[in-house]
Amino acid sequence: MAFCSLVSLFLLLLFTAMVSAQLLSTFYDTSCPNALSTIQSAVKDAVAKESRMGASLLRLHFHDCFVNGCDGSVLLDDTANFTGEKTAFPNQNSLRGFDVVDSIKSQVEAVCTQIVSCADILAVAARDSVVALGGPSWTVKLGRRDSTTASLSTANSDLPGPNLDLSALITAFSNKGLSTTDLIALSGAHTIGQARCVTFRNRIYNETNIDSSYATSLQANCPSVGGDNNFSDLDVQTPTNFDNNYYVNLVNNKGLLHSDQQLFNGGSTDSQVKSYTTNSDQFSTDFAAAMINMGDVDPLTGTQGEIRISCRKIN
Ligand code: HEM
Repeated sequence: MAFCSLVSLFLLLLFTAMVSAQLLSTFYDTSCPNALSTIQSAVKDAVAKESRMGASLLRLHFHDCFVNGCDGSVLLDDTANFTGEKTAFPNQNSLRGFDVVDSIKSQVEAVCTQIVSCADILAVAARDSVVALGGPSWTVKLGRRDSTTASLSTANSDLPGPNLDLSALITAFSNKGLSTTDLIALSGAHTIGQARCVTFRNRIYNETNIDSSYATSLQANCPSVGGDNNFSDLDVQTPTNFDNNYYVNLVNNKGLLHSDQQLFNGGSTDSQVKSYTTNSDQFSTDFAAAMINMGDVDPLTGTQGEIRISCRKIN
């Protein structure tokens, strides 16, 4: 009897170890020692060519992790008999950088065939993008594998939209095991990149918690009708520097999205936003920690999933 219990305990432990295999920063050290430097130089080139690409690559990792975990699902193309996530409302006509990911993947395949997952490429490219734009660095944990599935409906339900209020933002992040501190720190990603008029039109015409001259200047490029795809910078001050100005904007009622300004609108998150305006080191530390937490959301590991050859399609 005691022996049977020991055996079942052993099997349970083995099973747990198999399904919850840990991500490790050293994962490719022997199987593909040049993986990280290959990704880093490709990201540097892409950001040097177009600084916004750093923002677009960072966002891809976020949109990957929030839909059934960081598993490369966001990269899968639709086909006649496969529906990916690219046509989800938050993604369609919005996500970009897929060609750059293809180019990184082919450079990585050239140094080690079918070793490095697309999900890990996104995680590393996100970090390298932040660094290329002057932000903090962190050690990326690796060993994610790629999904053989995608979920359009989960992309639509789980990716937070720009019209959410604070409580819904907190819930969307807590549904992924991320704290309110993570939410506030990760939102600092909006210190880089751009948003389309359609995502902030209501705010600049109808909301009152917005600096009026800021709203007026945005209206010039975002008419009340039409111009849906006209871009504005998410950070009005330093759109291509990864810094803490996003939070300075918020305390001045210059958040571009409704969801941005929700973080500083008289609620429970005001104090953390305010502290980041004067303590950029704290923001850097919290952002790096939150990126690691986000990268840990439900990865496929061990023998789960696959290593895709092309990030756009399952093998
Ligand atoms: C808190 C909830 C969030 C909401 C509601 C949100 C929403 C949005 C929206 C609406 C846009 C503009 C999309 C468009 O115009 O097509 C955008 C852009 C962006 N988001 Fe977020 N976002 C959130 C969190 C995050 C997080 C956690 C990250 C990364 C860690 C991130 C990174 C970015 C970046 C870098 C851009 C600019 C992309 C580019 O220029 O290509 N966002 N976001």
